Amino acid sequence: MSQRHRIAVIPGDGIGREVVPEGLRCLRAAADAHGFALDFVEYGFACAGYWQRHGEMLPSDWRDVLGGFDAIFFGAVGWPEVVPDHVSLWGSLLRFRRGFDQYVNLRPVRLLRGVRSPLRDHGPGDIDFVVVRENTEGEYSSIGGRIFEGTDRETVLQETVLTRTGVDRVLRYAFELAATRPRKRLTWATKSNGIAIAMPYWDERATAMAERYPDVVASKDHIDILAAKFVLRPGQYDVVVAGNLFGDILSDLGPACAGTIGIAPSANINPDRTWPSLFEPVHGSAPDIAGRGIANPVGQIWSGAMMLEHLGETAAAAAVVAAIERVLAGRPDVHTPDLGGSGTTESLGAAIAAEITREQ
Ligand code: NAI
Ligand code: MG
Repeated sequence: MSQRHRIAVIPGDGIGREVVPEGLRCLRAAADAHGFALDFVEYGFACAGYWQRHGEMLPSDWRDVLGGFDAIFFGAVGWPEVVPDHVSLWGSLLRFRRGFDQYVNLRPVRLLRGVRSPLRDHGPGDIDFVVVRENTEGEYSSIGGRIFEGTDRETVLQETVLTRTGVDRVLRYAFELAATRPRKRLTWATKSNGIAIAMPYWDERATAMAERYPDVVASKDHIDILAAKFVLRPGQYDVVVAGNLFGDILSDLGPACAGTIGIAPSANINPDRTWPSLFEPVHGSAPDIAGRGIANPVGQIWSGAMMLEHLGETAAAAAVVAAIERVLAGRPDVHTPDLGGSGTTESLGAAIAAEITREQ
């Protein structure tokens, strides 16, 4: 009996609507080639149009609607001309991450053949690390407020929230991941010299966790020098674990060092599998290029490979990544403009899908 997986598809805004169809094309090709079934159900919420019609980003029963799926395949949300970014993000994606307890945000960074790094002297294989970002608490909290608004005493507070449960579970995930990788190195991001209450706690928990993983070579870097070293010596990193804010920044900086944010994938994982996990490219809705059919679909397609991996379709996941690598390396004619070519979203997506099929 072949497996069936039920997937909720949410294209969202802007180039999300252009890259998601290419992601689906490649997922269908992988399912056909590897003998399993994917049932896709597409939803039109979590976008500016839905907000204009309903005054909300999501229907009130979104948990019931999405909660039973095996995974969520997401494009990008945000159209600042219509809805402010903090409203669109907090009203949709952040609700999924928290409501479905997707406490790990996983972002692999690899410099692939056929992609030029903006960093001099770095070639394929030189950069290969994973950023593990805490995804449910930390600096992205709704605890705080404004008082004495509009007066000289105007005061704004926003609290960082660290819980032992929240910190330990993301650290544990990162250490487990490092233990499975050949180099078994882990770096945690901190800033305990400046943020002198929250970050020493984070260091304390990381140090305690490191003792339980003697095979993993663990060390810490302060976020400022860590950012600099991503640019100067990215090859030294293997698994990098960080809280919500530092992790957000590192997981854009990392992919940028590996060429273009257009190829970067991400997974928002609920490791307990109580709820569906969500797979999306790192990039946003890119209003500056939306509607022109030139967005790079690789970030979306690679996110699809991460989804297949999570669903247990390991061979199919590897085949999708291999197809991406071969097309980026051997088909400059379909490279999109961010890769220096004149290809389109569709031509690059179709080339990767054909490669997935051919490879079988
Ligand atoms: P962005 O990632 O949408 O765009 C940044 C730059 O990268 C732009 O110049 C864009 O053209 C380029 N770019 C992004 N993806 C690309 C691709 N696939 N191919 C080629 N070029 C690509 O980030 P920005 O401009 O800060 O945000 C735009 C909107 O997206 C905002 O509304 C923001 O809130 C939202 N956003 C949503 C995210 C999500 O849904 N997870 C993540 C980041 C931003
Ligand atoms: Mg970000």
